[in-house]
Formats: sequence, structure tokens, C-alpha cells
Amino acid sequence: MADPLGDMDAETIRRHGHALVEWIATYLNDTERYPVLSRVEPGAIREALPATPPEHGTTFEEIFTDFERIILPGITHWNHPGFFAYFAISGSAPGVLAEFLTAALNVQAMLWRTSPAATELEEVTLGWLRQLLGLTSEFEGVIYDTASIASLHALAAARHAAVPDVGTNGLVGRTDLGPLTVYTSEHGHSSIDKAVMTLGLGHEALRKIPVDSNFRMRPESLAAAVAQDRANGGIPVAVVATVGTTSMTSIDPVPELANLCSNEGIWLHVDAAYAGAAALVPETAFVMDGCARADSLVVNPHKWLFTPFDLSAFYCRRMETVRAAFSLTPDYLQTPEAGQVKNLMDTGVQLGRRFRALKLWAVLRHFGTTGIRDRLAEHMRLARLFAGWIDTSRDFERLAPVPLSVVCFRAHPAGFEAGEGALDALNARLLDAINGSGDVFLSHTRIDGQQTLRLAIGHIRTTERHVARAWELLNEHLTRLVS
Ligand SMILES: Cc1ncc(COP(=O)(O)O)c(C=O)c1O
Repeated sequence: MADPLGDMDAETIRRHGHALVEWIATYLNDTERYPVLSRVEPGAIREALPATPPEHGTTFEEIFTDFERIILPGITHWNHPGFFAYFAISGSAPGVLAEFLTAALNVQAMLWRTSPAATELEEVTLGWLRQLLGLTSEFEGVIYDTASIASLHALAAARHAAVPDVGTNGLVGRTDLGPLTVYTSEHGHSSIDKAVMTLGLGHEALRKIPVDSNFRMRPESLAAAVAQDRANGGIPVAVVATVGTTSMTSIDPVPELANLCSNEGIWLHVDAAYAGAAALVPETAFVMDGCARADSLVVNPHKWLFTPFDLSAFYCRRMETVRAAFSLTPDYLQTPEAGQVKNLMDTGVQLGRRFRALKLWAVLRHFGTTGIRDRLAEHMRLARLFAGWIDTSRDFERLAPVPLSVVCFRAHPAGFEAGEGALDALNARLLDAINGSGDVFLSHTRIDGQQTLRLAIGHIRTTERHVARAWELLNEHLTRLVS
């Protein structure tokens, strides 16, 4: 009998756990029976749930019944092989199972002693990933939840390097400092905008550098902006290069940017959130060119390394600066082994840490480097295949190069002469129509002012059949819309 004041007893956990694992195994292998994009109306899930908390407890069966009845219809299935939106991500089965263990262990890895294995597995697993990325052991790693947070920490460290007393005196009312400036390309991710705002630099402190015809930051424009800011008494704090921009996966010329940063003494942070994974494939290992000279770099295994959300790997050659910016140990967190071990709480703003390394370890071990490499290479083959269909079609056109696994394109039917506004509207309607099919989900962006459709391949279960289905739907719906 369960203790009336205790938790579920072992027999009941076993029963529900087995049923849950059955459900998960079926789900992961058969996500296609659900529409990829949820079809619920706004507010529907909220209205189906009681507004007040339950007074008395209920069985897990009842909770699960409501999960299937109320929650599941409101799920957009990132596990669906027809998910081609944003950056398609994969929670592969070994990672999902490891997450189950992480939840059961409920480790809080703030200090080495609060779970030595969590700290040391993080170190070892990030060491493996570092080698796969081709970075030297000069780079120390730490896991954060997201790339946004990793870049925030990189820029906080850069700010600390530029203004060593910022932790003590802050920035408000300082007459001894010129304006602090951060640089990224006009296609840099919005997380960089948010980081400068969060760090008290103000949004105006972010200078968006123009790109070339392949959407890569222009080094000469960056050099001119830095020179101009210095001439005006400003302090260039950091350059954020993007390896795999969000819209079209362009890759900034990191070697040239690294030259400039080292000559100018500016922190170079590389946002390789999506594209860093491509370093594992010999044909695309060039994505990391120059990155070994960066001060810091972020790559998201939760984007394109088959690791369930969330897990972002941050690497830094100057982790002592990150620690200087963030370590602060109250008396009650002091431990006798301090100095001999790493305490994860010292490398960032948060105290508590999830035990995320377990799932990355499980994924890397289960698939092995070769298994991961082959899957990534297949995604890139599928992207090239789809791009080829676009390129030979009379009704579609490609709007950006396809260096990796994302294709940017739009419908532009032969003989359609109605102008850019009408083309934008046609593409928006086409996107809605195919996303309503339930079989695929694509997202959009704007490139050079044009409404652009994006097909992003990244799910572990996506095959040629799914990409072909997307192409079939695009053609079917376009014919219907223009006839
Ligand atoms: C280039 C780039 N950087 C950063 C991010 C933010 O990632 P996260 O959701 O892990 O914060 C994204 C998200 O897609 C991205 O494309």
C-alpha cells in the first residue's frame, strides 16, 4: 500500500511507466498519424481545462486520458518527419530515454558534489563534441539551455573583458566610458539583439553589418564600422559571426573576421547554433574554418544533433573571463573540494543546472560519429535533391544558395506577371494551403524583401518520401491557386 503522505508506490510506477513507454514507442514510430501542425483554435486548450486547481488527487490513468484527449490535439509534432519549418529538430529515441532517466534522477548539478557524475559527464561529453567540431582543448565547454543564453553569456564575458569593473560599478552614468558596441551581420539572430538589450548596452549598441550577395557579413564594412566607432570614442566590445544564419544558413567569413578581431582586440563570438553540426561531415567541415580563432562559440545539439530539446553547447577559450563575470559563492555554497573541481554554477547566471549531458552522451554513444555523420549527410543530400527540383521547375525559383540542409525558394509561376506584392500574397496563400494539409509544415522568411518559403531538413525520421510529398503538395496547391 502506498503511504498516504508519500509518493506513488513502485508497483504503480511500474504499471504506468510500462504503459507510457509503450505509448512513446508507438508515437515515435508513427507520428505521421497526427497532423504535423496543430489544428486547434487559439484558447481551445485553455478552455478545455479547469480554471481552478484540483482539490483532490487523481490516478495517472485519468491524467493520461486527459493528455490524449485535451493536450495532444494542441501539439505541433516536431517529431513528424514532415516537419520542415524553422530548424527541424530531432528528439531521437536514445535521447528521449536518457531524458526519462534525467527526470527520474532529478539532479541539480550546481556544484560538483551535488552530483559529481553530472559535472564530469558534461566535461567528457563536451570534450567529445569539441573534437568532432575540430576545436582544440583550449576551448572549455559548458552546457546551457539555449543558444540565446549561451550568446548572452559570451557577450557578458566580452563586456567584462572590455570593462573589467562592470560587475562592481555597472554602466549607468559612466562618464569614463565611450559607447560600447557589438557587431553582427544584418542576418544575425535576434538573440544577439536581446543580449545587448539585457546587458544594458541598449539596442542601439548593436550594429548590423551589411552582407554580400551570398548573405555573408562584409569584413570591409565591419572594419569601417569599427574604425568609425573608435574615432568617435566608442569601445568595440564583440563581433558575433554567424555560421548558418537563421533565414538562409549563410556562413560568415570567420577567418577574415578573426583577423580583424585579433588585430583590434575585440571578442569574437561565433553563433553556430544550427550549422556547427555540419562540421562532422567531411564535405561541409569548412563551416568551422577560422572558428578555432574565436573567443567563444555556440552549437546546439538540440537543433541538428538528434538531442531532445534543450541542450546548447557553449565553448570558450577564455572561460576564466566568464567565471570572473559570474562567479560569486555565498557561504552556504562553499565546499571543501573547491579549487580541485569545477562547479557549474560558476559558469553563468543560473545556480541550478539540469543534468543535460546524459542525453547527449546517450545520443553520441548510440549512433556513434559515423551514424550521426551519415544522417547529416543524408539530410544535405535531400536538400540538394529538393533544390534541384526547384531549379528545374518553371513555377518555382530558388532565392538563396543551399550550403547545408535548408532550401529557400518561392513560387513564381511561368507567365505570372502581377508584380511583387501579388507574388508575396500568392506565396503566403500557398504556405497556408500546404501547412493545412497535415502532412508537412514549412515556415517562411523574407529575403531581399521577398516572401520566401523555407524547407529545413533536420528530423531523424525524414526520408526522401517526405521531401517528395512536400514537393507534390506545393505543385498541387500552386496549380489550384493560379487556375
Ligand atoms: C543562428 C541562430 N542562433 C541562435 C538561435 C537561438 O537558438 P535557441 O532557441 O537555442 O536560443 C537560433 C534559432 O533558431 C538560430 O537560428
